[in-house]
Amino acid sequence: MKILFATQNLNKIEEVQSILPQDFSVLGLTDFNFEEDIPETQNTIEGNAIQKANFVFDKLGVLCFSEDTGLIVPSLNGEPGVFSARYAGPQRNASDNMTKLLNKLGNDKPRKAYFETVIALRTKDSLKTFTGRCHGQIAFEQSGNGGFGYDPIFIPDGYLASFAALSKTIKNEISHRGQAMKKLISYLS
Ligand code: IMP
Repeated sequence: MKILFATQNLNKIEEVQSILPQDFSVLGLTDFNFEEDIPETQNTIEGNAIQKANFVFDKLGVLCFSEDTGLIVPSLNGEPGVFSARYAGPQRNASDNMTKLLNKLGNDKPRKAYFETVIALRTKDSLKTFTGRCHGQIAFEQSGNGGFGYDPIFIPDGYLASFAALSKTIKNEISHRGQAMKKLISYLS
């Protein structure tokens, strides 16, 4: 089955393709020569996932799913949350975002955090959402060379290394995106 993942983020496409069973093949927006910016103006992660799926469906008219992810740190009142991508400014730079978060936490604030992913599946007649969460801690410094975004400073519960230092297989098994994808796969199957 071919399915369109409504994102321009190649890291996410690669991750999702490796999570899906082999009989699924992920198409990206470049396969449709779609280069428009997709609006993300809602104030919740779920709202943004739905907005992206609806926007792409309205433009292309094909079944698609989108996803939105945020990192939530309760001791910072939920920051960076829905602003995770542009936490340190519109340049959407991962290193700047991590530096801002580490500075805000300092040495004293509790470091519990979780990632939340919402996937929105849009068909002609329906819209369905699937949520995944992964709990852990924010490290004191970056480590690891893999992953993307906040992976170098996120240590999932039950592990001693950051997502960027763990294998892709482990990340996919336990991650927010992996959990949400499992729900999507079971719905589609
Ligand atoms: P968005 O869902 O593309 O808007 O991503 C929000 C922010 O979270 C971006 O800064 C991403 O780089 C980051 N992000 C999304 N997924 C992950 C992940 O699996 N690990 C680490 N950071 C992520």
